Amino acid sequence: MASFMVSLLLLVLQTYAAPSELAEAGFGTAQDARDLGSVLPANASEEATSSPPPGTSKRTPHSIIIGVRKGGTRALLEMLDIHPEVAAAATEVHFFDWDENYAKGLEWYRDLMPYSYPHQITIEKTPGYFTSALAPERICSMNSSIKLLLILRDPAERVISDYTQVYFNRLENHKPVQAIENLLVRNGALNVRYKAIQRSLYDVHMRNWLRHFPLEQMHIVNGDALIHDPLPELQKVERFLNLPPRIVASNFYFNQTKGFYCIRSDGRERCLHESKGRPHPSVNGTVLQQLRSYLREHNQNFFRMVKRTFNWQ
Ligand SMILES: *[C@@H]1O[C@H](CO)[C@@H](O)[C@H](O)[C@H]1NC(C)=O
Ligand SMILES: *[C@@H]1O[C@H](CO)[C@@H](O)[C@H](O)[C@H]1NC(C)=O
Ligand SMILES: *[C@@H]1O[C@H](CO)[C@@H](O)[C@H](O)[C@H]1NC(C)=O
Ligand SMILES: *[C@@H]1O[C@H](CO)[C@@H](O)[C@H](O)[C@H]1NC(C)=O
Repeated sequence: MASFMVSLLLLVLQTYAAPSELAEAGFGTAQDARDLGSVLPANASEEATSSPPPGTSKRTPHSIIIGVRKGGTRALLEMLDIHPEVAAAATEVHFFDWDENYAKGLEWYRDLMPYSYPHQITIEKTPGYFTSALAPERICSMNSSIKLLLILRDPAERVISDYTQVYFNRLENHKPVQAIENLLVRNGALNVRYKAIQRSLYDVHMRNWLRHFPLEQMHIVNGDALIHDPLPELQKVERFLNLPPRIVASNFYFNQTKGFYCIRSDGRERCLHESKGRPHPSVNGTVLQQLRSYLREHNQNFFRMVKRTFNWQ
C-alpha cells in the first residue's frame, strides 16, 4: 500500500509538471482533438474555408484500427501516418460503436475523413470498436473486404492502464478515486464484472469479429513489441495493407526523458502522448495473481482463435 501511495504521489506530481499529459488521461473525441492540436488543423472551419488540394476527396476508410483501448492505438496511427500513402483521420470518430453517431449515416462519417489522393488509403482509429457488440456487423455492411488492424498488449497490464486512465480522468474532473484493489476485488473474490477486466477478455470480443470477418482480414499488432521497437511491427502492417515499404529506422528516435520513441518525418519531430508508459500504480501481488490466472484461460482461447501466441504472463 505504501508503494502504491508513492506511485500515486509521483503520478500527481507528474500531472502538475506536465499538464499537456492530462489531455490524454481523458477519452473521447474532444480530448483527442486537443492532443493533436499542434499537428492537425486547429478547427473544422479552417478546413472548410481553405479549399482541399486538387485531386483529393474524402473517402470512407480502407482500414480501421479497431482497438484495443490502451493498446497503443494512437501510437500505431501516428506511426502509420509517416507513410506517404496513408491518410489518417484526426479524431476518434466513434461511428460504429455509438448509436447516436451511427444514426447520422455514412455521409456524416465520410465527411470526418481526411482528404486523400486516389493512391492513398484512409485509416481511422476508434479503440471502442473492438469491444462493441454491433461494430463488427456495421463495419462489415459498409465494406466487407475492409482490412482491420487490432493492437493488443498483455491483457493484465491493459487492465491497470485502463484503470490509470480513468483515475486521471476522474482526478481532472474532481471526482473521487479509488485504489485499484477496491475495483478488482468484490467480497474477497476477483470482480470479473469490472469493465476494465471485461475489455481484456480478448477471446470474447474476437469471437464476435470472426463471425463477420475472416481471420486473414485482421492483422494483430503486438503493442508491447511496437513500444520497444516500432519498425518491425510497422513493416508487418505495411505488408498487410499492401503498402510499399516507406517507413524506415530513421523515422524514430528514442527520447530518454520520455522513455519512449518519438517520430521524425517531413523534417518535423513529434512525441506521442499515448501508450508511452505512464507509471502504473503497484498492485497488490495477490490480487494481481488472481487477475492473471483468471485471464490465462481467456488468453489460451484467444491464441487458438487467432492461430498465434503472445508472451503475456
Ligand atoms: C478557426 O479557424 C479560423 C481560421 O483559421 C479562425 O479564424 C477561427 O478563429 C478559429 N476558431 C476557433 C474556435 O479556434
Ligand atoms: C473496401 O476495402 C478494401 C480493402 O482496403 C478496398 O480495397 C476497397 O476499395 C474498399 N471498398 C470501398 C467501397 O471503399
Ligand atoms: C523528449 O521528451 C521530453 C519530455 O516529454 C520533452 O520535453 C522533449 O521535448 C523531448 N525531446 C525530443 C527531442 O523530442
Ligand atoms: C493483498 O490482498 C490480500 C487479499 O486480497 C490481503 O490478504 C493482503 O494482506 C494484501 N497484501 C498487502 C501487502 O496489502
